[in-house]
Amino acid sequence: MPRRLADAMALFHPDKSWPLLLQWLESQGVDMRAEVLILPLLLSLAAGLGAADKPRPGGDVVTVLLLEDPALQRLGERLFMDARLSRPEGQSCAACHDSASGWSGADHEKNLASGIYPGAVPERFGNRRPTTAAYSTYSPLLHAKREDGELLFVGGVFWDGRATGHLLGNPAADQAQGPFLNPVEHNLPEAGTVVNSVESGPYAELFRQAWKTHGVEAPPGEVTRRKFGLIALALAAFQHSPAVSPFTSKYDAYLRGQVRLSPVERRGLALFEGKGKCADCHPNRKGPGGTLPLFTDFTYDNLGFPANPENPWYRMGPGLNPAGVAWVDPGLAATLESLPQYARMAPANLGKHRVPTLRNVDKRPHPGFVKAYGHNGYFKSLEAVIHFYNTRDVLPRPEAVARPIPGVNCWPRPEVEVNLNREEMGDLRLSPRDEADLTAFLRTLSDGYQPPRSRPVPRAPGVADRSARPQVSSRMGSGFNP
Ligand code: HEC
Ligand code: HEC
Repeated sequence: MPRRLADAMALFHPDKSWPLLLQWLESQGVDMRAEVLILPLLLSLAAGLGAADKPRPGGDVVTVLLLEDPALQRLGERLFMDARLSRPEGQSCAACHDSASGWSGADHEKNLASGIYPGAVPERFGNRRPTTAAYSTYSPLLHAKREDGELLFVGGVFWDGRATGHLLGNPAADQAQGPFLNPVEHNLPEAGTVVNSVESGPYAELFRQAWKTHGVEAPPGEVTRRKFGLIALALAAFQHSPAVSPFTSKYDAYLRGQVRLSPVERRGLALFEGKGKCADCHPNRKGPGGTLPLFTDFTYDNLGFPANPENPWYRMGPGLNPAGVAWVDPGLAATLESLPQYARMAPANLGKHRVPTLRNVDKRPHPGFVKAYGHNGYFKSLEAVIHFYNTRDVLPRPEAVARPIPGVNCWPRPEVEVNLNREEMGDLRLSPRDEADLTAFLRTLSDGYQPPRSRPVPRAPGVADRSARPQVSSRMGSGFNP
């Protein structure tokens, strides 16, 4: 390994997993001795990432390159769908992250009940609602930044940002190591069990190839850890691929100039950027270089969403939840407490959750399908979320009204009453029509939209192959009627 290059790469990648990249380059036929050439090559590759109008994923150059590797993406898809990787068998990632519901929870009944999902052991529940697994690779590594004299936290994935990305170089990759060993998810005892299952399973060959390409010469004690890391990277690569994060919503088509929004959607968009203040945290404009927006600024906020009394976590018993019904979701505070450099910032971040992307927020298998929203699944419709933003500080508490109906004549108190955002929400003075228009705009964020042909071709009955017909001139105007 040329020393100078190694030093340069270390600048990009604190975890020193840069050898993965070098091996990959070598496997692509790049001469490793030509170190002078490699660095510019790397930089140009990095600059070319997020090709076309896609933003650059979060994390460092090396990991980001791996996310774009089609072979890793294919392996990741098999891993994501593999229900053997749980104890007892039967639970894949897709059980809680399904494409039909925008890579979030795909069970109507569960969404309606609590919005929280059981793990492989059916009576064991987690404490939060599954976020969408799509677009999560775009979150930067968890870091602090100073804004208006205040220290703001940005990046990481999970509602509380605890997958920081500092381990594998991308937060979604760090995240992917979690569920396998989590007793309320896949419930496997250790990394070695995951690796063994993969190496003896139906797509063992895909994994063997990936290890051959990306695997590093590792000391014997390190092999399992590195292989587990590669499994997580493959999962992140799949979640990064166009299969999961395609940027194909109607709004994307609108930004690409392929379609116009309807008048209602346009009004919704204006409210989203204006009176609703939504864009303050869910940015919707193109980024530098014309990149498509992610509808999250990856910061953290406490909006005062009420506790969800249906959250099964309250009943999980002292083994999992020693606090019982008194449990309060600490959000970002718990993550900061575990990081010595930020621990003293924990109290100021109690109850803050990461701003979720709004991409696919309305994606559902059929119109009557209920989705749960917010970190604890309290809300069951977009209308309810928007009405809460609008009236949180206007409606009284349930105790103050005779027949309390939350969302109609009252709102329950926030789950965490400190660090509440009062600047951007609570009393937005939106009319019922404004609320409906905002919802209509959110519906334009679902992937899988087919933009109309740029020039509509008139229908010709009896003509089998439309593509074989000569192009109809637009000058024929609307009077043309075959
Ligand atoms: C039992 C349900 C369940 C299973 C199985 C599951 N997840 Fe999740 N997932 C969740 C929940 C709940 C959250 C949010 C947890 C939190 O924030 O504390 C989540 C969060 C995530 C996120 C974070 C997204 C973001 O932007 O914050 C990603 C990515 C993800 N899961 C991917 C996966 C992958 C990959 C697997 C399989 C290895 C998997 N999940 C298996 C329930 C599940
Ligand atoms: C101050 C930042 C901020 C502003 C302004 C804001 N949001 Fe949010 N949004 C968040 C955070 C943080 C959450 C997650 C809160 C939680 O779960 O506790 C969220 C959650 C949501 C959700 C639920 C998504 C999901 O997957 O659960 C929707 C829908 C939403 N916001 C839409 C809007 C709309 C519409 C507006 C404007 C009316 C808006 N937001 C304004 C920060 C913000």
